[in-house]
Parts: sequence; structure tokens; C-alpha cells
Amino acid sequence: MLIMSSDVRKGLEGVVVDETAISRRDVKELTYRGYPVRELANYCCFEEVAYLIWDGELPTAAQLDRFQNEKRGYREISDYLIELIQSFPLATDPMDKLRTAVSVLGMNEADALDNDPAKNRNRAMHLIAKIPTIVATDYRHRKGLERIPPNPELGFTANFFHMCFGQVPRQEVLDCFEVTLILYAEHGFNPSTFTARIVASTLSDMYSATTSAIGALKGPIHGGANSGVMRMLLEISEPEQTQAWIDEALRAKRKIMGFGHRVYKQGDPRVPIMQAVLEVLADIEQDWRWIEIQDIVARTMLQRKHMHPNIDFKAGPIYYLMGFDIEFFSTIFVMSRAVGWTAHFMEQLAFNRMIRPRSSYVGPALRSLTGRPANRTLQLT
Ligand code: COA
Repeated sequence: MLIMSSDVRKGLEGVVVDETAISRRDVKELTYRGYPVRELANYCCFEEVAYLIWDGELPTAAQLDRFQNEKRGYREISDYLIELIQSFPLATDPMDKLRTAVSVLGMNEADALDNDPAKNRNRAMHLIAKIPTIVATDYRHRKGLERIPPNPELGFTANFFHMCFGQVPRQEVLDCFEVTLILYAEHGFNPSTFTARIVASTLSDMYSATTSAIGALKGPIHGGANSGVMRMLLEISEPEQTQAWIDEALRAKRKIMGFGHRVYKQGDPRVPIMQAVLEVLADIEQDWRWIEIQDIVARTMLQRKHMHPNIDFKAGPIYYLMGFDIEFFSTIFVMSRAVGWTAHFMEQLAFNRMIRPRSSYVGPALRSLTGRPANRTLQLT
């Protein structure tokens, strides 16, 4: 079949490539397995949401207890991996180190290509348990600080703060962090998740899919946007300078990080929830500067470009106010989105057909080397 350029859907915009039962997005609501994320953020912990996304139903209290206990036992990483992370150049992007470390996790499993559903479900738990340990190991190493091993007495969010900072913040901050993880956990066929599904579709292994997905998420217009937002806010620096900054940025046709979305053209339903989280943190830190700057940027983007902010616009200052280094924002995103990637990996395998689109050729017309002296002894037809 000849494919015409007019058939091409650049960026796969509007193309429905498969079915999913994991999440649904519409103009007003994002749901995981039918539950609005707004409600999940209000009533559930991150681990319950991970369980829901993987298994389709929320766990009972007993199931959650068992799940959390089991997962806490998986947090530690090998000495080999710790040494490897600590041997990387300090200036290396944390996303590159995380990508490499996840790949190493896969190397340790001789039967990683055995895609038995129970084994994959267990691998997904290992990944969610170990990724924060990898991130925190790197976090401490970059600062020249001694590594803090995971503490099985602590919950998911408290343990992560403990491993990074050596202390656990007040409950309100933990709650804020947990809400961001819940909101980041899953989002349909976004580029990194679709990457994971492509890898799954070749019957490769979950570690390869997660490694590839991290590579996709790293891109500045995907998961890299949350750090891009904070760099932009620091560049603007003061509310009084914001209007002049955004006017000039738009005149120079700069891409404003944290704005626009392929699917949400009328606004991202996660943003109001993230805004509430940001306001709690601004209040705790008594630092309203980023919100003031954001209000001016958002108002101008709506008036001039009819564009709404996306989740990353709010995530940037949230993680900054929590004290995380900007370079690590995308690795926090990975800690959460790995739930969605692994769920989609399993769903893809359950109904697999290898993903292999076609392209419309626009290169040179047919040409020939006839007449050129042969430089092989072989006579190929
Ligand atoms: N700032 C300024 N202009 C933007 C913009 C932004 N953040 N996002 C899109 N545009 C403009 C484009 O330049 C383009 O203008 P043009 O038609 O004059 O060339 C138009 O809007 C359409 O943009 P396009 O890149 O085709 O939209 P898309 O659906 O392919 O891309 C994103 C969606 C998210 C990749 C894009 O909006 C973006 O790069 N945003 C910034 C990064 C970001 O926040 N990513 C996180 C996404 S959750």
C-alpha cells in the first residue's frame, strides 16, 4: 500500500492506537480505573493508588498492609549498584544515572524475559520500591554526603525524605508530596508510557521498557518540563519583573515551560489540585513569590496564546519549596510514573500485537550505482 504524505499524522495526533482500561482523560476529569484522581488524592495513599493502577481494584486494609510490608522489604539495592552510582561523574544528569541504574537492575535477573504475569507484577513492585533508593543514593552522593539506607519502619514518602535529607518533614509536607505522586502516577498513552508499550510489544522485559521510558521522560518537553519551569521562575526572579519577562519571551517566540498540552486544550484537570498543594507549601515556607510570578505568566499566556498551564507548571515550585535540587525533579516524576509504565507494560502483553507503524517516504527517487567498478568478488544479483 502506498502511503501518501496527506495520510501522515505527525506526532500521532488524534490517532487511537489501542484500548486501555487503566486511565481515562476527558476535559474535566482524569480517572484511574474509574476513580477521579481528585478523590484518590483526597482519600488514598500512593501505594493504594499503585495497587489500583496495577490490579484494577483498590486493596482492602489487609491487602494494603501485606502489600506495603512486602514492598518495604524490596527497597534496598545491591552494594554493586550503590558503588556504581557513586562512581558516576558528579555532574552527570540524575536522569542518566537513574536510567543506567534501572538497566542494571534488569541485568541481575537471569529470567527477565520470562513475562509471566505474576513475575511482572512482582518486578513492578521491586521497581517502585527501589527507584527512590537509587534516586536518594545519587542525591546524597552529589552533595558529598554519606548514603542513608532505606528505613523499613517508614512509609513510602517519609522514607524518601529520610533517605535524601536525613529527616522527615511535618505531615502536611509529606501529604503534599504524596498528592503530587498520585497525580503523576499515570496518564494514558503519553510519550514515555507509549515507549514502554512499544518495548513490551516486542516481548522484551520490564526493565528494558522502564529504562527506555526514562529516556523518553527526560526530554525537556515531557518530564523535563518541571525542572524547566523552576529554572524559568528563577530566571524571572521577581513578580515585578514578570510582565516584562513574559512579554519579551513571547516576542522572541520562546517556548514557555509548563504550558500547552497535546490532549488538554481547555486546561489540565490536575492543575487546580496541584495549585492547592502549592499554596499549602507557600504558606508553610512563607514564600509566595513563585505563585505571584506564576499568576502573571498564566494570565498573559491565556490572554495572548489561549494556553493553559499543565501539571509541570505547578510541580516545579512545589518540589523547589520542599527543598529538592532542580536536577532531581524529573527523577521524582519517574518514582511515580513508573507505576503507569509497568501497568501499561502488563496490559500491552495481555493483549499484545507488536507496535509497528509505517512511514511515508520523502527521500530521493530511485537511483542506481550501475557503471561503478565492482569492489567485491561476490556477484550479487
Ligand atoms: N509556549 C509557547 N508556545 C507554545 C507552547 C508553549 N509552551 N506550546 C505550544 N506552543 C505553540 C507552538 O509553538 C505552536 O505554535 P505555531 O503553531 O505558531 O508553531 C503551537 O503552540 C502548537 O504547538 P505544538 O508544539 O504543535 O503543540 P503540541 O500538542 O505538539 O505540543 C507540548 C504539546 C506539551 C509538547 C507543547 O505545548 C510544549 O512543548 N509545551 C512546553 C513543555 C511542557 O510544558 N511540557 C509538559 C507537557 S505535560
